[in-house]
Amino acid sequence: MVKVTVVAPANIAFIKYWGRSEHNLYIARNTSISMTMSGCITTTTVEVGDFENDQIEVKFFNQEYKKLQALDHKPKALFKQIERIRSLAKSTQKTKIKTENNFPNDVGIASSASGFAALTGALLLGYGLEKEFADKEEFSRQIRLCGSGSAIRSAMGGFVEFLAPKEAIQAAGGFSPEDLASELKEHLHKESYARQITDENHWNLVDIVAITNPKKKLVSSSQGHLMADTSPYYETRISEMQDRIAQTRQAILDKDIRQLGPLIEEDSNSMHSVMMTSKPPIFYWSPGSMEIMLNVMKWRREDDLQAYFTLDAGSNVHVITEKKDSEEVKKRLENLPSVQWTIYNQPCPGVTKINKHLF
Ligand code: DP6
Repeated sequence: MVKVTVVAPANIAFIKYWGRSEHNLYIARNTSISMTMSGCITTTTVEVGDFENDQIEVKFFNQEYKKLQALDHKPKALFKQIERIRSLAKSTQKTKIKTENNFPNDVGIASSASGFAALTGALLLGYGLEKEFADKEEFSRQIRLCGSGSAIRSAMGGFVEFLAPKEAIQAAGGFSPEDLASELKEHLHKESYARQITDENHWNLVDIVAITNPKKKLVSSSQGHLMADTSPYYETRISEMQDRIAQTRQAILDKDIRQLGPLIEEDSNSMHSVMMTSKPPIFYWSPGSMEIMLNVMKWRREDDLQAYFTLDAGSNVHVITEKKDSEEVKKRLENLPSVQWTIYNQPCPGVTKINKHLF
């Protein structure tokens, strides 16, 4: 029997991944950029041995352990990932898995990102595939095959980009799986991975998540990706964002919040415009999200407080600021009527093996 435990952080996207050019392989239409989040962590223990079946037990935030059934899209993907990695390792042994999150799931804090990254890391190590885990770019491809694009940005620490192959950007309508020749598939798979821009010690940037509404979102991001190109603005987003991607990389390297902040807000607004104009439309913003966004802009305008907002597929607002201003930003956020509580995050390492097991 082998037992392995890893921790994996969620990540917040400064440049958003929205829409894919190939859905089955999770190939993104555009390159995205994110920062890992020290306060939003999944811990996963995998034991590989002579069990009859694979079993996964999950403990979501503030809940008890529950046996996971392969009924929905995401749990199915987790069981498939076990089978895939088992066959990669040429093993027949089954697994016993426990996994827990220290933050709310399905509310736009990338719980699937940390969960899929943690599971993939623990499985690779549990099945003795150390080389695939140690090579972080290969590890990120393995995470993508689990069935979550954003999760691959948690493979490594700090500031990370999820590269979209050139062909993905050029594809007008997306590839259909039937049209995809196996060499092209192989090429897209190889070219679609995570790459570290700079590590977690580079910059004291902070992401304060303002929790407005810890309820499960109505439309999952997986469903949203399928609808992205029904928006008349989608192709415009893909072309106008190319300069923003390069500028965001540079602003991170220069540690320039005045440069980075407006790019983050622009990209969030651009992605949400696509979501709201999809057919049918998807609205993740709540009145509480609006209250926070308007206040963040007001604090900048009136007090030059350097804080900027971004939202993923949920109503909670991530407020990005530098450490020196973070106490002030947190205090102001917690005074807003729609904010229930906040989660403080700094850049942190990616998926890491630890010695303390969950069972
Ligand atoms: C809005 O990675 O959740 O958070 O690849 O289907 O698992 P799948 O989607 P997912 O999409 C994340 C979308 C986003 C933006 C981002 O994190 O880049």
